[in-house]
Amino acid sequence: MRCHLLRMLASAIAFTPALALADTRLDKLKAQGEWLAQECVSCHRLDGADKGIGSIVGWQQSIFTTTLKAYRGQEFVERRNPVMVSVARSLTDEEVEALATYFGSLKP
Ligand code: HEC
Repeated sequence: MRCHLLRMLASAIAFTPALALADTRLDKLKAQGEWLAQECVSCHRLDGADKGIGSIVGWQQSIFTTTLKAYRGQEFVERRNPVMVSVARSLTDEEVEALATYFGSLKP
């Protein structure tokens, strides 16, 4: 009985850091995304309204990422809007992921 309890305790302890790490990584990405988003929200509205420039709030992450990479024009069918091409080309993959995480976490 005591042995069983100890084993449970041990596995709980072993499990916790992995979870905490996953949380930290997400939080970090989101914070980085929020910081990077300052550049985007001079054109795209944070409240998700479309005032001539499309909303980028609440997108599924994979679609957001694919779209930005399409502006980069290196991996997918290109999108050619020159402003977004230059915005997208200035971002690393990690920054794109951070932006996708942040904007994806917002509700339109
Ligand atoms: C100077 C203004 C401007 C800035 C800054 C800007 N965008 Fe854009 N964005 C646009 C315009 C204009 C379009 C529409 C382009 C088109 O028709 O392809 C667009 C399109 C997009 C789209 C596709 C929207 C859709 O409905 O297909 C995404 C995603 C996007 N931008 C993300 C971003 C992100 C992320 C940033 C910041 C890193 C950013 N944009 C910064 C002007 C801007």
